[in-house]
Amino acid sequence: MSGPLILGIETSCDETGVGIVRGHDLLANEVASSVEEHVRFGGVVPEVASRAHLEAMLPTLERACATADVDLTEIDAIAVTAGPGLVGALVVGLASAKALAYALNKPLYGVNHLAGHVAVDLLDHGSLPSPCAALLVSGGHTSLLTVEDMASKITELGSTIDDAAGEAYDKVARLIGLPYPGGPHIDRAAVDGDPTAISFPRGLSTNRDLIKHRFDFSFSGLKTAVARWVEERRLAGQDVPVADVAASFQEAVCDVLSAKAMDACRATGATDLLIGGGVAANGRLRALLAERAAENKITLRTPRPALCTDNGAMIAALGAEVVSRGLRPSGLDLGADPGLPV
Ligand code: KG4
Ligand code: ZN
Repeated sequence: MSGPLILGIETSCDETGVGIVRGHDLLANEVASSVEEHVRFGGVVPEVASRAHLEAMLPTLERACATADVDLTEIDAIAVTAGPGLVGALVVGLASAKALAYALNKPLYGVNHLAGHVAVDLLDHGSLPSPCAALLVSGGHTSLLTVEDMASKITELGSTIDDAAGEAYDKVARLIGLPYPGGPHIDRAAVDGDPTAISFPRGLSTNRDLIKHRFDFSFSGLKTAVARWVEERRLAGQDVPVADVAASFQEAVCDVLSAKAMDACRATGATDLLIGGGVAANGRLRALLAERAAENKITLRTPRPALCTDNGAMIAALGAEVVSRGLRPSGLDLGADPGLPV
């Protein structure tokens, strides 16, 4: 193992994550989630998330140090999510990271959460070929990217024009009576369903759409189509076949995501496709992408599911890249940027 020891702190949404890496070696990845506290509200309540981060931060840090068997004084640099995310949640991570950097007299690096979802793959598969295409699918974002340099050159080819893929999973889950967060529940329910049972629309996929929105996504029409289908069924006094709706909805999402991701590889000449973000943990998305990547002779890089959802290791991994490029540390006046673009 070589390279500096990097601590990564993540608090952009409802997961308090602390990771420790050295180069591409993952030494610790401790996550405390406040998701249970949000379930009854059907979505993340920002103030509840901030308070949970405040309570979980130091215990999570202590667990990470114990797992990695390192003392805080051995840490060489601290990376922290500066955005995008919920501002009150980001502030807790930033304040903690600043206090540590100040007390330990170590450099502080504010990094981008979205780039972190991409960089985490380094821990599972090592260095990337350039250019590499990336499909980022989370609760707040859905984008196709080209990655030339993890630390400094990620370009967006297209993104969702309305809901993110994870948001669509969460909203549809609610429509069919599955709890928040809906993604993993739909993933499981769909296993027993027929993906061809109901034909749901594939957003921005007609020839006409592709002229202007070749690499963009739209999931709000799909969500409305599911809502209408479910409503008609209920009005007719019929049961809603949850597994079939879940599988058919999921097929529509994964079909569009994988078709556009393959097209992005073709257009950019990328031989590798990386996927990241919470929805990248989805079983059907991983299987369909694997099938299509094999047909198109693309190498698919899928981080293990625990590294796809929000965590501190992804921030530490990106921090290690930033440090290895010799980029300048952030000042101790670093602020939170809830709308930070990739
Ligand atoms: O990346 P992430 O943990 O947080 C954000 O940065 O948004 O993504 C959370 C999203 C949620 O919408 C959740 O429902 C979805 O990822 N998700 C999944 C799965 N696991 C998490 N969606 C589909 N299938 C899954 N297995
Ligand atoms: Zn995320």
